Amino acid sequence: MDTALRNVALISAMPVLLAIPLLTTLAAHLAPPAPTAQTWTKVEVQFPASQAIFPPGKGADIANGQCLMCHSAGMVLRQPPLSQGEWASEITKMRSAYGAPIPPDQTEALASYLHAINGRPSQSGPSRVDRQGS
Ligand code: HEC
Repeated sequence: MDTALRNVALISAMPVLLAIPLLTTLAAHLAPPAPTAQTWTKVEVQFPASQAIFPPGKGADIANGQCLMCHSAGMVLRQPPLSQGEWASEITKMRSAYGAPIPPDQTEALASYLHAINGRPSQSGPSRVDRQGS
């Protein structure tokens, strides 16, 4: 090969020769970091007192049997107090809107229990939860 031809070949190969170290460095930076050893630390967590089941009382067994399959007792107990009739409507709503399987003949006994633990007199005006589409 004559000298001129060799020089042309070398010059043409220059971009490729320069790109090799550049790509190697780039690949090293893009590679995922080497796995490090996992360390675990122990933590202490204080949960609030449980409202997992309903407080004792006549009808608590109905509430514990019928109302805990979808939400906690706390979810029910934290609602504003309702009259017995409003509790009955609430139970009917659970059955018709959400498919709660509570037998209709247990509605009054359960409404009486819920009114006893979270009730208000029926003649004291509209409930705070009225007209909320519920
Ligand atoms: C099939 C599931 C299901 C069952 C069983 C069920 N609920 Fe509910 N309940 C729901 C859903 C869903 C909501 C709405 C939750 C939300 O809005 O975040 C709800 C909400 C409530 C509320 C909040 C007020 C409202 O109207 O949204 C009360 C009070 C309530 N339920 C009482 C009861 C009582 C009492 C029982 C027992 C008869 C019961 N639920 C059983 C599904 C159920």
